[in-house]
Amino acid sequence: MKVAIPRERRAGELRVAASPETVKKLKGLGLDVVVETGAGTGASIPDQTFADAGATIAPDAASALADADVVLKVQRPLTAAEGGQDELALMKKGAMLFGILQPHNARESLQAYATAGVNAFAMEFMPRITRAQVMDVLSSQANLAGYKAVVDAASEYGRSFPMMMTAAGTVPPARAFIMGVGVAGLQAIATAKRLGAIVSATDVRPAVKEQVQSLGGTFVAVENDEFKQAETAGGYAKEMSDDYKRQQAALVAEHIKKQDIVITTALIPGRKAPVLVTAEHVASMKPGSVLIDLAVEQGGNVEGSRPGEVVVTDNGVKIVGHTNYPSRMAEASSLLYAKNLLAVITLLHDKDAKSVKVDWEDEIVKAIALTRDGQVVHPAFAG
Ligand code: NAI
Repeated sequence: MKVAIPRERRAGELRVAASPETVKKLKGLGLDVVVETGAGTGASIPDQTFADAGATIAPDAASALADADVVLKVQRPLTAAEGGQDELALMKKGAMLFGILQPHNARESLQAYATAGVNAFAMEFMPRITRAQVMDVLSSQANLAGYKAVVDAASEYGRSFPMMMTAAGTVPPARAFIMGVGVAGLQAIATAKRLGAIVSATDVRPAVKEQVQSLGGTFVAVENDEFKQAETAGGYAKEMSDDYKRQQAALVAEHIKKQDIVITTALIPGRKAPVLVTAEHVASMKPGSVLIDLAVEQGGNVEGSRPGEVVVTDNGVKIVGHTNYPSRMAEASSLLYAKNLLAVITLLHDKDAKSVKVDWEDEIVKAIALTRDGQVVHPAFAG
């Protein structure tokens, strides 16, 4: 059975869906692994390293994908309509495709997979159950994004995070405010703290308060009855009422004026990101302050943030809107993402047949399967 890892073709994507370690393990499962030449370049993995791990190197996408039973990707395949090579057209009928496929952003892709007879699985739909933790791509990638956001903020900032006491004078520590304390936010708090900042954080989920405090941060939020019920059974945030948002905005207004660094990570699954920092908030901040909007691709938490740009406002505040944060740490994020994929393949592996066999009744499979044998099957999109 052949597993293919093509080179990622979308602009700005440096990650790869395999690592030397996962290639070795896939080989150990009795699978043949083919990596397209250059697939690992953005993540600093040369072809030779993949070859040493047991992969065959294919000269182009067509030969990598020809006859592949399993295709491991980071992002959804490019289409001819998007001005690139039609990757889906190179996949055979019955192939299994695993990737961060973002069907909400590309609904037409679902029918395309079905028509091509490709069984597609969206890794970001992994359920948050203990058994699937090792396959949880949102966590593995968000953790690194949270770290990198702080490092980016530190490099954009004209002063230091830690207090600096020198013979020539003292530089005060930076004040960093993290808005949204999921996986990325927690890592941002920990990283900012390690760098010596005075850290505070906010979230609408009550469970977060203790986590913030245990990392040495101060918790800032309107803790009313709505707040106490803001967490869904799945651990995600609910959309808050307009009244709550008004109260929270007033609280933030006072706090944000004193901050040097603000990192926003707030998301609500399947919806546009909530606006947490208004233009008025930004206008109240000191010149030289830095905002990093990790939600910029989902509509943005910061008014005025723009995908792919660093905006400097009239009052000298920088609003950083880098996209695809995990790709900014392509080596680390590829290694973790590859492990997430390996865990899924291992789950579906049939030891006797030395092949990948989908158990369509498994709750993990049900959560991530988009298409099956020419049909769109995911409950959010079927029918
Ligand atoms: P996310 O990426 O969906 O959102 C980031 C954060 O933004 C969340 O903490 C959310 O509560 C917050 N947020 C949303 N609206 C907000 C608002 N108006 N104001 C302030 N904050 C707002 O979240 P992520 O990182 O995916 O984590 C969600 C939950 O899942 C967490 O409880 C996390 O610990 C849990 N989790 C569970 C796992 C498992 O059991 N396998 C694995 C990973 C995370």
